[in-house]
Amino acid sequence: MGSRDLRFSIWVVFGLCLVCVSVGFDPVDKYYINCGSSSDVTVGNTIYVSDKSASKFLSTPQDILANGNLNSIPRSEESQLYRTARIFTGPSKYTFSITQNGRHWIRLHFYPFVYQNYDMRSASFSVFSQTTALVTDFSPKNVTVKEFSVNITSGDLVITFSPSSNSFAYINAMEVVSVPDSLIVDDASLFNPSGAFNGLVNQALETVARVNMGGPYVSLENDTLGRTWVSDRSFLLQSNLATNVSKILAVKYPAGGPTSDTAPPSVYGTCTKMDSGSDPNSNFNVTWAFSVDPGFQYLIRLHFCDIVSTAANQLVFNVYIDSFLVAQDLELSTKTNGQLATAYYMDFVTTSFDKSNLTLSIGPSRQSGYPDALLNGLEIMKMNNSRGSLAGASILPTFPGSKKKLGVIVGVSVGVPLVLVIVGILLFMHRRRKQERLRHSRAWIPISTNGGTTMGSKYSTGTTVTIASNLSYRIPFIAVQEATNNFDESWVIGIGGFGKVYKGILNDATKVAVKRGNPQSQQGLSEFRTEIEMLSQFRHRHLVSLIGYCDEKNEMILVYEYMENGTLKSHLYGSNLPNLSWKQRLEICIGSARGLHYLHTGDAKAVIHRDVKSANILLDENLMAKVADFGLSKTGPELDQTHVSTAVKVCLSTAKSKFMEWLLNHPLLLGMMMMVSIEVRSSQH
Ligand SMILES: *[C@@H]1O[C@H](CO)[C@@H](O)[C@H](O)[C@H]1NC(C)=O
Ligand SMILES: *[C@@H]1O[C@H](CO)[C@@H](O)[C@H](O)[C@H]1NC(C)=O
Ligand SMILES: *[C@@H]1O[C@H](CO)[C@@H](O)[C@H](O)[C@H]1NC(C)=O
Ligand SMILES: *[C@@H]1O[C@H](CO)[C@@H](O)[C@H](O)[C@H]1NC(C)=O
Ligand SMILES: *[C@@H]1O[C@H](CO)[C@@H](O)[C@H](O)[C@H]1NC(C)=O
Ligand SMILES: *[C@@H]1O[C@H](CO)[C@@H](O)[C@H](O)[C@H]1NC(C)=O
Ligand SMILES: *[C@@H]1O[C@H](CO)[C@@H](O)[C@H](O)[C@H]1NC(C)=O
Repeated sequence: MGSRDLRFSIWVVFGLCLVCVSVGFDPVDKYYINCGSSSDVTVGNTIYVSDKSASKFLSTPQDILANGNLNSIPRSEESQLYRTARIFTGPSKYTFSITQNGRHWIRLHFYPFVYQNYDMRSASFSVFSQTTALVTDFSPKNVTVKEFSVNITSGDLVITFSPSSNSFAYINAMEVVSVPDSLIVDDASLFNPSGAFNGLVNQALETVARVNMGGPYVSLENDTLGRTWVSDRSFLLQSNLATNVSKILAVKYPAGGPTSDTAPPSVYGTCTKMDSGSDPNSNFNVTWAFSVDPGFQYLIRLHFCDIVSTAANQLVFNVYIDSFLVAQDLELSTKTNGQLATAYYMDFVTTSFDKSNLTLSIGPSRQSGYPDALLNGLEIMKMNNSRGSLAGASILPTFPGSKKKLGVIVGVSVGVPLVLVIVGILLFMHRRRKQERLRHSRAWIPISTNGGTTMGSKYSTGTTVTIASNLSYRIPFIAVQEATNNFDESWVIGIGGFGKVYKGILNDATKVAVKRGNPQSQQGLSEFRTEIEMLSQFRHRHLVSLIGYCDEKNEMILVYEYMENGTLKSHLYGSNLPNLSWKQRLEICIGSARGLHYLHTGDAKAVIHRDVKSANILLDENLMAKVADFGLSKTGPELDQTHVSTAVKVCLSTAKSKFMEWLLNHPLLLGMMMMVSIEVRSSQH
């Protein structure tokens, strides 16, 4: 090699070093999106581009850009991101082209505000990547940032927003950014029982907590990977037992070990430690508690850096996760080649966690000359479950290119025309009856609401919600309590969006089903009112009957006739119940069609059920079908010209996703259902 070449090489190496020093990790893929805005915003050094200009990677049924009232937006660095949001009334997706496979962060920013008739605080929706359900039936009530990391192994990243039944979705800002390959490695330690966990690289992770022990909040500007770290004060169970130390300038990163990308010096350089004072007999733990979702495994990363010792062997301590001893007689300098003040971390994976509270403790070891223990940083990451979900029970939506493609195409081409035919007939009937319906007078009874607020939901009509006056349906709370053995958990026969359903026995030995709503839910209140309104005026052998309701103490309780054979759904899928014969199935079809037909065209006001699915068709002891769950129904007079389209849309999407899915799995039934609905209709004319 000539001296010229050598000099050149030195310059190249020097240049590369300069780049390394000045830039740190440079993500290959980086998308920062300001959603629902037609202009870009700059936060710190980052430009979040408008998703209006980037519309080529967004596909959504309606282009709704929501602009918030500036006064209602909280003041913070990122507040600009929360001034606008994009609203999705149907499944919508962003497609990001990924240049380099590997782990990527997905950060979703939410801040609900009211825009026109969309009250985002009542929105409920799910968000998916191609492989993972990130959140399901999610309803953020304040500024919420959800951070996930997923390993993208081929092609594009598609993020789908899917509104829950009868609701809509929204998003304020979004980030998709490459993560350094070395950040999450494949293996970790298991405890209880101890062992090795392999396969971390295939896990989707959600950040549950990222904590800077003994130090302040670390903002994204002070983290080379744009993460934020919160102070541990609020997680400490007995803060009087702990003290803090800060020596940020002392922090060293060992060759081949953690780097400032693992955690910045402001995290490794501060710690929370035992406050042993000058008592050599101190014997206690310092404990932090974090709330977690039960039913998942967690990756727990502990960051250590001995910034308190002046020589080796001064600090020897134990570490416990959820009361299990995960590190005994830990002496950090043995892990860092005898060096003090050197960064070191440990990864642990829990077994599926059945509690909602995860504790972490540090305490003195018997081996220690002087009782002390410290922790510098902590990350808790939720791992996807075996169904590929980081949220509740969920099934991934179908994506183009997957094996279910054919099913979707068939579903759309067969399902939609059928629904259109039915909807067309219904609309025709509604129009004919409109004049008559508008003349109906309405009665109003107040249902005690928590604070008497009107419902802001897009789907409620605020002051004009009406409930037929029928006080005889009111049941005292104490009677409901008695009937359900004080809401005995072992008497729960179902759980739905509205709340739990209990079996109950009234004084006169009548068996009942008791549906107890979650009092916090505003959406629930409107469903509660609708249900009472509907069921107190409709009586039909194929509609489940309401025995009464209770609204004492802000309760929302509905009491129905008990249906011995449960839901149709339970007979169709995943149970050991005997298969229904084709005759029984046809009878169930005819029965439910009659019930729906009565609703649509009956003597009283016309009603569109809007949530017909096999879970809402109940079977009595003779397997006679009865339609249930009227919470989402719409009555006639709301169906003026503008509202008809909304009702139909919801009807279509619900039908397509649920009822059609069921029908399509049973092609014979599909044909029968068409015959049945035509037959019933023609017999009435
Ligand atoms: C929403 O969060 C902000 C801080 O992020 C807080 O100041 C405010 O009190 C919260 N609002 C509600 C209603 O909890
Ligand atoms: C992503 O997954 C692939 C396939 O399992 C694996 O080979 C790769 O190492 C992973 N990458 C990262 C950064 O985890
Ligand atoms: C450190 O401890 C002091 C008192 O011991 C406390 O006031 C301070 O808030 C602590 N700092 C952090 C970042 O926890
Ligand atoms: C970064 O950390 C330094 C030292 O802790 C602090 O002075 C500075 O304010 C921090 N910057 C931001 C943007 O938080
Ligand atoms: C610390 O916590 C662990 C786990 O809960 C417990 O076994 C141990 O006895 C505790 N140590 C002290 C000194 O309280
Ligand atoms: C978590 O558990 C600890 C001890 O069992 C308890 O003291 C603490 O209050 C709990 N925290 C939460 C948030 O439930
Ligand atoms: C998470 O999903 C991956 C596939 O995407 C799967 O291999 C892995 O087993 C899942 N994790 C758990 C804990 O089930």
